[in-house]
Amino acid sequence: MTFRIDLRLMRNDIHDSRLAVKLINSNLDWFFFDEPITITQHQEFMERSITRGDKPFVIEKNGISCGTIGLYAIDKKSASTQWGHFTIDSQHQGIGTIAEYMLLDYIFLENKFDYTYCHTLATNQTMIHLQEGKFGFTREATLAKHVIKKGQHFDVFKFGLTSIKWTKQRQKFSGLTPFIGKVKT
Ligand SMILES: CC(C)(COP(=O)(O)OP(=O)(O)OC[C@H]1O[C@@H](n2cnc3c(N)ncnc32)[C@H](O)[C@@H]1OP(=O)(O)O)[C@@H](O)C(=O)NCCC(=O)NCCS
Repeated sequence: MTFRIDLRLMRNDIHDSRLAVKLINSNLDWFFFDEPITITQHQEFMERSITRGDKPFVIEKNGISCGTIGLYAIDKKSASTQWGHFTIDSQHQGIGTIAEYMLLDYIFLENKFDYTYCHTLATNQTMIHLQEGKFGFTREATLAKHVIKKGQHFDVFKFGLTSIKWTKQRQKFSGLTPFIGKVKT
């Protein structure tokens, strides 16, 4: 069945905040902190984020808000950006690959960045599979014992991808074309 994925800028309103808080709190195992966050904390984060010039997106499937992904630590001078805050509602899993493909095109084709990177817990097999296995990221660093969760240390992997590599390999995702909507900024 065909469906369409769009990325639209996250708003600092109650609707988007409820979505983001729900998605973060239901995936706490994969975040670098342990405690559930509140709507107020998220709205304060969004205020700082907007001031910094981040680009947080809501992922929509046929207009239904069902995930988050975004650019953080944008560095125009060095033409690089971190990306992350990647979640898909458990009812809609299976669309993460499409959302990530759209974000990478937005980073490299639309914004002409040279490099992007993300961090993930070394225990997150889904992210390792997606970044190293599917999208051709290079595992550039292991940040040893970088995070403490529930009193236990966890390593963190840094994955990086250059625009040259993305341009060479993006064609292999041509099967996703029917599902690609717009990145609305
Ligand atoms: C990461 C996430 C956003 C990806 O979205 P998604 O809709 O699940 O993504 P997709 O289904 O398109 O792709 C997931 C891939 O990982 C694979 N996968 C799933 N669980 C896996 C596991 N335990 N080990 C290895 N690979 C796994 C899937 O098979 C799929 O690969 P394939 O298409 O080659 O078969 C989503 O899984 C999620 O919200 N996870 C929890 C939050 C999280 O970990 N966020 C990242 C924080 S750094």
